[in-house]
Amino acid sequence: MSERAKSETNQFGTVAVLGAGTMGAGIAQVCAQAGSRVILYDVEDRYLERGMQTIHDSLDKGVEKGKLTAPQRAATLERIDDDLDLARAVAEAELVIEAVPEKLELKREVFAQVAQASRPGTVLATNTSSLALARIFAGIADPGRCIGMHFFNPVPIMALLEIVRPAGCSDATLERVRAYAGTIGKEPIVVKDSPGFATSRLGVCIGLEAIRMVEAGVASAQDIDKAMELGYRHPMGPLRLTDLVGLDVRLSIAEYLRQELDSPVFEAPKLMREMVARGQLGKKSGKGFYDWS
Ligand code: CAA
Repeated sequence: MSERAKSETNQFGTVAVLGAGTMGAGIAQVCAQAGSRVILYDVEDRYLERGMQTIHDSLDKGVEKGKLTAPQRAATLERIDDDLDLARAVAEAELVIEAVPEKLELKREVFAQVAQASRPGTVLATNTSSLALARIFAGIADPGRCIGMHFFNPVPIMALLEIVRPAGCSDATLERVRAYAGTIGKEPIVVKDSPGFATSRLGVCIGLEAIRMVEAGVASAQDIDKAMELGYRHPMGPLRLTDLVGLDVRLSIAEYLRQELDSPVFEAPKLMREMVARGQLGKKSGKGFYDWS
């Protein structure tokens, strides 16, 4: 699609992405690639620098793989600005996508500031992977514009957008976000605001059971992963995926789901707790079920 056609069909001209981590950087990239102007916000320069580096690297790889052209890469980068000032970052935005760490209080604080600084009709979206949207948006005066946009890592490659509809979200907001999913090249599903939504609830469940199987000596981590990769055509086995996502991240989701769904299925295995306590968090720490050093 031409640049002009893209901007004409784009439902959100300006998007603010809050948090320049792995998810925030990926979200900023896909929105800018689709023609939106993007303002990427974080609290420190070093996080913004790292986020912009992630975007540069991913776009370079995209060009290398023939997924976009060098001029498209340059145009995408031109559409992204970074900012350390939250109020300024969201002032012009028609859509705000929050991708800060998975801490309820932090997300609530961020949205309280966003609600003050943004225009009244701005759509407010969270990229939370499991927290209840009803709690995240509890203090927002106009719940009709609040929604979940759950992306998957690596964002530029993964096709799914899990749209989470909290009580009070208007039909207009849902339809705008659903249409925007198409604009940014994602296939949407719509899920009720329930613990773990569809993806994290099932994904974490498989990951925890795989850890219990390692613990019980059923097979090695490599063979359990191979079972799901070759036997079920999962692109990546559940233990390698746990390493990629981070054992600490998955542990906190498991604890949350255990409590919210009151189900022993989400009880965190002893081995997982021990590995997290030892600092074996997966890829980011150099060691998890695999050696990443
Ligand atoms: N930009 C654009 N396209 C790219 C790219 C880039 N930077 N890098 C790679 N690609 C393309 C490739 O060209 C290739 O496209 P084709 O299929 O058209 O050839 C495709 O992406 C796959 O790339 P590779 O062949 O290089 O890599 P791979 O086959 O090893 O796959 C993977 C890598 C997609 C990450 C795959 O291993 C996978 O799907 N893993 C599972 C990921 C997953 O489950 N993520 C969800 C995590 S949970 C989550 O994110 C939710 C949460 O809340 C925490």
